Amino acid sequence: MFKKINQATTKPIVWSQYTADVLWTDEHIAKQMLSFHLNPDLSLASRTASFIEESVAWLVSEFKLNETSQVIDFGCGPGLYTHRIKAKGIGTVVGLDFSSNSLSYASEQAKQANLAIEYNYGNYLEYSDTRKFDLITLVMCDLCALNPDQRALLYTKFKSLLAPNGSIALDVYTATRFASQNESLELEKNSMNGFWSEKDYWCIKSSFKYEDEKVTLDQYVISQEDKEWSVFNWLQHFTIEELSQELATHGLEVKSTYSDLKGTPYQDGDEMALVIGHKSEA
Ligand SMILES: C[S@@+](CC[C@H](N)C(=O)[O-])C[C@H]1O[C@@H](n2cnc3c(N)ncnc32)[C@H](O)[C@@H]1O
Repeated sequence: MFKKINQATTKPIVWSQYTADVLWTDEHIAKQMLSFHLNPDLSLASRTASFIEESVAWLVSEFKLNETSQVIDFGCGPGLYTHRIKAKGIGTVVGLDFSSNSLSYASEQAKQANLAIEYNYGNYLEYSDTRKFDLITLVMCDLCALNPDQRALLYTKFKSLLAPNGSIALDVYTATRFASQNESLELEKNSMNGFWSEKDYWCIKSSFKYEDEKVTLDQYVISQEDKEWSVFNWLQHFTIEELSQELATHGLEVKSTYSDLKGTPYQDGDEMALVIGHKSEA
C-alpha cells in the first residue's frame, strides 16, 4: 500500500506522459464530455452557447469571412463553432477531431441542417491538406494541452495551411492563471460524479506545478476492482512574449491580442486570445 500510494502521488517529469486521447476517446468518458459540450450553460468542455454565438459573429466580421472563404477548426468537438460558421454562409468549413462520439454528433447536426461541413476524424497533428485557409481556429485553450514538440508540429502545420493573408485565432492560459494555481492531493470514491467509469473506483488526484516551465499537471490515478489507470492533464501557461518566441521560429507572429475570442479588448486575466499570421518580412 505504502509503495502504491507513493507511486501514485510522485511528481512526474514534466510532459513525461500523454493521455489526452483517453479523455476524448474512451467510450464512457467521451459520452460525459459530449454532455458537457452540449450543456449550453456550462463552460467546461466548450464555452456557453451565448459566448459561442458572440464569438462566431466576431470571427466572421473581424476576418471578413464570406462565401468564398476557407475555414478550418482544429479540435472542433461536436461542431459548435463550425456549424454556426457554415450557417452564416461561409464557403468551405472543415472540422478536425479525434473524438468519434463528438464528430458523429457534429455530422448528424450538419446533415439535419443541410450544411455542407467537412468533418475529418483523426489526430490533427497528423492532418494534411493542400488547400490554404483564410482562418484557422483552435479554441478552448487546446494549445495548452500540447507539449513543446507537439506545439512545434502544430505550428509547422498551421504555417503550411495558412493563406498568405490568413489568420489563426486561438486562446491560451496565461502566466497570471499559473500564479494562482496550487499543488494539492485528494482521494475520493467515484469522484466527479462517476466521471471516470460507470463501475466503482477510487481516484487519487495530485495537482503539481512546474515553476520553470509554467506548466500545471492534474494527475488522476484511478483504481477499479479489475484495473488501474492514470490520466495526465498538463496545461502550458504563456506570456505573450513566450508564445511570440515559439511562433517566430515557425515563421508566425502575433498580430493582435484580446481577452477572449469574442474580441473583448485585452486585459490581464486567466486567459487571452491571440490572432496570429505569417511573420512579416523584416
Ligand atoms: C476542450 S474540447 C473543445 C472543443 C471545441 N473546440 C469547442 O470549443 O467546443 C477539445 C477538443 O479537441 C479534440 N482534440 C484534442 N486533441 C486532439 C488531437 N490531437 N487531434 C484531434 N482532436 C483533438 C478533443 O477530442 C475535443 O473535442
